[in-house]
Amino acid sequence: MSEEITNEKRKTVLSAVQPSGNLTIGNYFGSLSRFSEFSEMFDCYYCVADLHSITVRQVPAELRRHTYEVYALYIACGLEPDKNVLFVQSHVHEHAELGWILDCYTMFGELSRMTQFKDKSAKHADNVNAGLFTYPALMAADILLYQADYVPVGADQKQHVEIARDIATRFNGTYSQTFTIPEPYIPKESRGAKIMSLQDPTKKMSKSDKNENASIYILDSKDDIIRKFKRAVTDSDTTVRVGEGKDGINNLITIYSCVTGKSAEEIEREFDGRGYGEFKLAVGEAVADKLSPVKEKFNLLMADKSELTALMRDGAARASRTASRTLSKVKRKIGFVEA
Ligand code: TRP
Repeated sequence: MSEEITNEKRKTVLSAVQPSGNLTIGNYFGSLSRFSEFSEMFDCYYCVADLHSITVRQVPAELRRHTYEVYALYIACGLEPDKNVLFVQSHVHEHAELGWILDCYTMFGELSRMTQFKDKSAKHADNVNAGLFTYPALMAADILLYQADYVPVGADQKQHVEIARDIATRFNGTYSQTFTIPEPYIPKESRGAKIMSLQDPTKKMSKSDKNENASIYILDSKDDIIRKFKRAVTDSDTTVRVGEGKDGINNLITIYSCVTGKSAEEIEREFDGRGYGEFKLAVGEAVADKLSPVKEKFNLLMADKSELTALMRDGAARASRTASRTLSKVKRKIGFVEA
């Protein structure tokens, strides 16, 4: 995403995080910490995707708390509310509305092929609801309402951005140019696109993992962070180096690299002749130190809910200004009568 001709229209970035659990360092290194890089060069929209969260059953009080938390974390991670549009999805009714419309331009067959649908319906076999199935059409609405050029996401969401492109292309083809075709923007592997579980390093670290020791949450205390890293599953080798069958150590090296900016080779050299115990402690301390200012800012923000609510309201109004423009255009093209 290079900056080409400067008098070209400013490009737009949109991304979203679901408030469906406590955010992990995977969310931090993969998305949150990188979002602020875009603020200067692009028009940025960041959404708390609460409509998406209810495709899996949520405890109401927790959904509410997580929504405030994700919103506050956006700001704590460096997104300034006046330089970015930060909003909650359900506050901007255009999302649900365009979501329905796009359902009618999305094929049963293409939704059936989504790997996230297959995974989630296996995991929540007692609640394979229609929303879980049409989830990608709502996500397409999130993106297309803002005419986003770039969508920063983890590698697991690439398929969803691709279907958004297909839906947009289909709609444009049926009527006329309406939507910008978005591009996924996926951070480089070593910069945190994929941080794995500390307990099963063949699996992605997840904010909904039942095993608390598997994930480091952004809001964990320093003691918890260090304890979890100490318990991280590794192998029976003793040298800190990247290797096949060393998923645990590979993951710790990735994490340490994300925090320090050092390459794997530099890390191998730094820990040459030192054991796993020492390395785990160093990773734990580095992560805790990195997160400490984020937590401090987060706590200040959470202490003033009325201020947060005011920011949410302002963000929603600004988001809605752009979203309503796109939605009106869509309705006109389809042939809906204007009120
Ligand atoms: N599906 C994304 C996730 O689970 C969250 C999301 C919802 C999103 N709408 C989006 C991401 C729009 C990017 C753009 O991580």
